[in-house]
Amino acid sequence: MRHIEFHDREKEITEIMRLLNTDPSLITFIYGPINSGKTELITHLTKQLPENYVVFYINLRGKFISSYDDFVRALFKLDREEKEYKAILKKISEVSIKSLKYTGIPITEDILELFFRERNYEDVFEFLEDYFTEIAENKVPVLIVDELQKIGDVKINSFLIYELFNLFIRLTKELHLCHVFAVSSDSIFIENVYSEAMLEGRCRYLLVDDFDEETTTAFLDNYEFSDDEKTVAWKYCGGKPICLVELVNIPDDRKNKAKEMLKIRKGQIEEVVYSLEARDKKMFDMITRILFEFIEKDKVGYKYLNDEIKFLVGKNIIFADSVNKELRPQSRLNLLAIREVMLSITTTLESTSHQ
Ligand SMILES: Nc1ncnc2c1ncn2[C@@H]1O[C@H](COP(=O)(O)OP(=O)(O)OP(=O)(O)O)[C@@H](O)[C@H]1O
Ligand SMILES: [Mg+2]
Repeated sequence: MRHIEFHDREKEITEIMRLLNTDPSLITFIYGPINSGKTELITHLTKQLPENYVVFYINLRGKFISSYDDFVRALFKLDREEKEYKAILKKISEVSIKSLKYTGIPITEDILELFFRERNYEDVFEFLEDYFTEIAENKVPVLIVDELQKIGDVKINSFLIYELFNLFIRLTKELHLCHVFAVSSDSIFIENVYSEAMLEGRCRYLLVDDFDEETTTAFLDNYEFSDDEKTVAWKYCGGKPICLVELVNIPDDRKNKAKEMLKIRKGQIEEVVYSLEARDKKMFDMITRILFEFIEKDKVGYKYLNDEIKFLVGKNIIFADSVNKELRPQSRLNLLAIREVMLSITTTLESTSHQ
């Protein structure tokens, strides 16, 4: 398997660097379709920051959060070397040659035990405010929570997400202490945050989308794609980085690999659609009405996230861009698969109506 270099994202990096060069004032929501490269972008960018930045990166992927203890465990990381809280702060604040990056917020065993003993959210949020205040005296803290939607449904006293957003608002708009980035590809979560105006005037949205055609071509040029292979790659994968990487890794059989990916996705969508027809004909009719639109179009507008859209989003078939109020398939592969499935349904319907 070849090593794949990080590609492009100049526009997004310039935009994020511009934000990082000003005082924190808003929460930045990084959103986009599945596998568009949000995490990769953040990982790449945080490696390049000047030494006065300290990154606290928390990735909730694969974490199961349903209680206070889960939340504390996901947020913090035990620093086994240091016994004193002040020693941790000193270590973070001391001059270093390159920017520091922590996965999780480092704390001592004593504090962690205290959190588990007291089981009080307010203590945790207060502690975090003090923590970032201290660090901000010498460094620029950057807090990034990837897959933030994981705590979207957690309800302990009130919804945890509201409490966390309150902390984020304190750290950004009110105290200007810490840059906060929330990353998510869950359209329903982003739509809820957006439409409920939970963060009206307190956050900005930054779309990290699949590569455009020019960027895709430049990426493929790095891996000796022939013109023919480039055409096939764009036709089947569009600018979905993960899909393009798959083709890079199969240098001998790229065209067949692309066709095979489409065949698999088509099969999966058929499974979803036909099993729904067998289960719930009314829902099937509503869903196919949406999907039919993609036979002619690449994207369609929507007014609100109804159950049909939520179903398709939940199955990772459709991406709902709440900021632009548009529905579109999660990828070019999904678009082609939807078209094939819908055309076969149309053909079946036509043949039965002629009988
Ligand atoms: N700029 C890039 N250059 C090279 N490869 C990339 C780039 N962006 C993404 N990739 C490839 O695509 C894969 C998926 O990217 P990534 O995990 O960052 O997507 P994501 O948007 O975070 O996905 P999810 O929606 O699941 O969170 C990466 O593992 C990497 O192989
Ligand atoms: Mg990700």
